Amino acid sequence: MIAVPVIAIDGPSASGKGTVAALTAKELGFHYLDSGAIYRVTAHAAMERGVDLADEAALADLARSLDLHFDGVEIYLDGQAVGDAIRTEAAGRAASRIAALPALRAALLDLQRGFRKAPGLVTDGRDMGSVVFPDATLKVFLTASAEERANRRYKQLIEKGFDANLTALVQDLRERDARDASRASAPLRQEADARLLDTTDLSIAQAVDQVLGWYREADAR
Ligand code: DC
Repeated sequence: MIAVPVIAIDGPSASGKGTVAALTAKELGFHYLDSGAIYRVTAHAAMERGVDLADEAALADLARSLDLHFDGVEIYLDGQAVGDAIRTEAAGRAASRIAALPALRAALLDLQRGFRKAPGLVTDGRDMGSVVFPDATLKVFLTASAEERANRRYKQLIEKGFDANLTALVQDLRERDARDASRASAPLRQEADARLLDTTDLSIAQAVDQVLGWYREADAR
């Protein structure tokens, strides 16, 4: 049986990997999984239900019992659209904290692997190529300088009508990168078999073209 192809795009916060992954999926007619949103919605549910963000066992139980439904980019929790509530910096920080807990990560594995359906999947996160889909057809490590990423996040937040402070964003991104990269369980890092895509000086279209080019090469092998 031929495995359903997966393009795994990993990288730090606000690198643009979500936009590049979603557009690549659209171009190929593949499904798309934003795995960060799964960590964010889990953190959001924990905060709403008063679950301690350091209680690993309780968080893993919560993750296994979440009533989640995905429709395009919208996520429904208990039948309610969560919308931009999971896109705030506070939700991102909480997601990064709980993401350091191995039992919580293990509890989310099946949910993420369930997105692998024909004709293919493009996914983005931190451990898509290393842990969740180690047999991915193409693995990309997509990054950009911290300043450029802070600029992009700033624009995104302002567009969504949130308050934002550029200096605080650079600081926050650096802290989040350090936490995501230094944790023992599935740390953020470029795997040996992942291709490096630095988008600091690339447009979104150029980044998508590069991923599509690499995918066609990998698929022809
Ligand atoms: O990509 P993002 O900023 O939406 O992710 C939010 C947090 O979730 C991020 O700080 C680390 C965590 N995360 C993870 O540990 N593994 C993933 N595959 C995706 C996200």
